[in-house]
Amino acid sequence: MHIAIVGASGAVGQELLKVVEERNFPFDELTLFGSERSEGKEYFCKGKPYKVRQLRHGDDFKGVRFAFVSAGASVSKEFMEDITRFGTIMIDNSSAFRMDDSVPLVVPEVNAGDAKFCPRRIIANPNCTTIQMVVPLKALEDISHIKRVHVATYQAASGAGATAMTELENQYRQYLNNEHIVVERFPYQLAYNMIPQVDVFGEDGYTKEELKMYHETRKIMHSDIVVSATCVRVPALRAHSESIWIETESPISVENARRAFERADGVTVIDDPDNRQYPMPLPATGKNDVFVGRIRKDLANPNGLTFWCVSDQIRKGAALNAVQIAEYLIR
Ligand SMILES: NC(=O)c1ccc[n+]([C@@H]2O[C@H](COP(=O)([O-])OP(=O)(O)OC[C@H]3O[C@@H](n4cnc5c(N)ncnc54)[C@H](OP(=O)(O)O)[C@@H]3O)[C@@H](O)[C@H]2O)c1
Repeated sequence: MHIAIVGASGAVGQELLKVVEERNFPFDELTLFGSERSEGKEYFCKGKPYKVRQLRHGDDFKGVRFAFVSAGASVSKEFMEDITRFGTIMIDNSSAFRMDDSVPLVVPEVNAGDAKFCPRRIIANPNCTTIQMVVPLKALEDISHIKRVHVATYQAASGAGATAMTELENQYRQYLNNEHIVVERFPYQLAYNMIPQVDVFGEDGYTKEELKMYHETRKIMHSDIVVSATCVRVPALRAHSESIWIETESPISVENARRAFERADGVTVIDDPDNRQYPMPLPATGKNDVFVGRIRKDLANPNGLTFWCVSDQIRKGAALNAVQIAEYLIR
């Protein structure tokens, strides 16, 4: 089997190389693509070196079974025809096709079956904040229908890509050395700060990131669920955190919620407040699961439950989710 990674030099592309190696994803041939900036760079996978080729229009994807694409929405739109024309399944990490009715939006723990119906040969990976939220939500939805969600996110710098991680690291160094602090990837200095804006502002004062959580959750869960989000960029390097309040049709006890989370695929419960055990971004970094803790009743709503959820968004929020989709299709 021949696979391709488009955007190999990026934060998600680099994680894809790790994930296919760790999971021993079956391939005989691997082609890496990027722009002219990374053309010729060499990366290793399963002990073998691979050189990045420049992504061009043409027939480079002939014979490629799966293309994992993470080079931004405009690249996905521009090259979609070239990638899918000869039968390649494009698993796309960008927002380009997520809300297209003929493109399934898939989180394997929630709606794996949707991946089978992809008439355009494109399957979209949801937004990272949505992926880590719907995995535990699915476990609760199976007990009682979730009507409403309020969520506040605490999103790591790496959600904005490899150069954004470097910017945060540089800003801490610049601050400590009393140097000029360079701000390019975020609207303000992120080091020692928090920014209540992820992506640009859209309708009614919500950012695009917040609206993605609204629309994508409904599509993935095939539900009339409503999601009201506030997305905040925080100076963590990697792994997003979310504070989630849900309202269900009938109340779910804390014990039942914990049991459902413990049984759910892809969820690990860390919830022992007496011993200060709860999920955090640093220990979640590089891990596959969505970590859930601080499970408790919502004091403001008799049908409410609240919990804290952390996951490595480059991994489960992007690379791992994409590879799991391909694994599902192979099975
Ligand atoms: N970071 C996350 O946590 C995360 C999570 C979920 C989804 N995503 C999505 O995944 C995509 C990639 O994100 P990222 O964080 O990996 O970004 P990134 O670190 O900035 O990497 C971007 C990648 O795109 C490539 N690229 C840019 N222009 C290109 C072109 N014209 N032709 C071919 N390749 C091109 C770059 O290659 P060169 O180095 O050669 O320019 C680089 O490999 C985005 O759509 C993002 O929204 C990211």
